[in-house]
Amino acid sequence: MNAEQNERLTRITPGTPCGQLMRQYWQPAALVDEFNPAIDPRLKNRPVKAVTLLGQEMVLFKDASGDWGLLDRDCAHRGADLSFGRLGSLAEGGGLRCPFHGWKFAADGRCLETPAEPAGSKLCQHVKQRSYPVIEKSGALFAWLGDEGTAPPPLPAFDCFTAPASHSFAFKGLWNANWLQAFEVGIDPAHRSFLPRFLPDAPLGDIGQKASVRHVHGAGAHAIAGEPWPMARIMREFAQPDISFESTPWGMQLTALRPMTEQLTHVRVTNAIFPATFVMPLSETMTLTQMHVPVDDTHTYWYSFFTSFADPLDRESMRAQRQQFISLPDYIPKAGRHNAWGFIAQEQLMTPSLGLAEDAINVHDQWAVESMGAIQDRTREHLATSDKAIAANRRVLLNAIATVQAGGIAPGVADAAVAAQRTGPDTLDGIAPAANWAEWWQQAAQAKRDAAPWDAALATPSLSAADLLEAPVRYSPHEEAS
Ligand code: FES
Repeated sequence: MNAEQNERLTRITPGTPCGQLMRQYWQPAALVDEFNPAIDPRLKNRPVKAVTLLGQEMVLFKDASGDWGLLDRDCAHRGADLSFGRLGSLAEGGGLRCPFHGWKFAADGRCLETPAEPAGSKLCQHVKQRSYPVIEKSGALFAWLGDEGTAPPPLPAFDCFTAPASHSFAFKGLWNANWLQAFEVGIDPAHRSFLPRFLPDAPLGDIGQKASVRHVHGAGAHAIAGEPWPMARIMREFAQPDISFESTPWGMQLTALRPMTEQLTHVRVTNAIFPATFVMPLSETMTLTQMHVPVDDTHTYWYSFFTSFADPLDRESMRAQRQQFISLPDYIPKAGRHNAWGFIAQEQLMTPSLGLAEDAINVHDQWAVESMGAIQDRTREHLATSDKAIAANRRVLLNAIATVQAGGIAPGVADAAVAAQRTGPDTLDGIAPAANWAEWWQQAAQAKRDAAPWDAALATPSLSAADLLEAPVRYSPHEEAS
């Protein structure tokens, strides 16, 4: 990859080609919890918050009538910071008033008052604060930063958006790095055998809502000849996955096979939802949908949406577990470059560990993402066969940027009828019969849906087993390197 391509893929501020692409999609702007007074008492009487998204400074607020508003932060009058604005009560007609000269704006950006102007002034009719659509979904507030005057697309009907609140939990954290290297960790099946390689094998069954951030590596009630095998052990002992991927209407479905015996193969199916989301199994009954949202070119919030297909989730417990490692109200990890991510060289020497916080899987991913630098210099890397999905995604991304620049529709963006058909996507982690792993995982995924206490049966497998078997992806890493 040359330097121009790397710039093209990573820069997302207004006016950049990738920035224009990213503005075709709904992006999480905040967790609903950030406005919960029990979690952040500062917002009890004044639900107003400064946010930065895609390099744009904005103010997010809930007005007196309960509507969410997202406005440019610089006041349309002379640019003062509206995040210091005063929320109007219902009796006052609502709105957000700039403290400088008292101009007041509605949640949709209409100018309501310009009190310093002469009586009878019609200035308000000619002024509008730029506003952005906001929808509340699955514990997050999603914003759409597309061109003014154009309509946002509907959200797809993915599991993370259709599961009831009782079976959903959302959390987030900040990484000091570019969005693309954050996303590329998620579509890198090979690193699972290395980065968290020496995490302790969590007890089988210690999974789901009570599992800590270690859960990723305790998932799955796997057994070979009656002996239980936690996922961490499988990842550790079978470190050369056979990776393949298929294009889907939303992005890419990745399959990593780890042949174990002549009869058994470990199968891990995950999904990349274009442009910056991956969906992976955490256990037999829970999936993680993780979105990577650019704050600016060198900072990224990951938003994790947990979806249970079995028991309701104990959200208080899940939040408390994560707050051990991440400080609110800005969701900043306690480990980072400032303290070498908690690295202890002696521990690495004395035990088969990475020398990082062993209970915090996110710290491992955070180290991988941040240690590359604020924006990874991809002119210096050497992609390998195990990076085939990452290389393919970059090609899709470059093509998508070109498509949008030419006035076309971004991948995965669909009208209401098609968006409603974007369901699932299915994920799975398990040990399959080697001879028919493709049929096995599809059946197992469907069984999970059928057993869900909420209506998860809408989704149908995106690919047939025959598709998976008959259309292996051929890829040469040299294509990308050239
Ligand atoms: S700058 Fe906001 S009212 Fe004047």
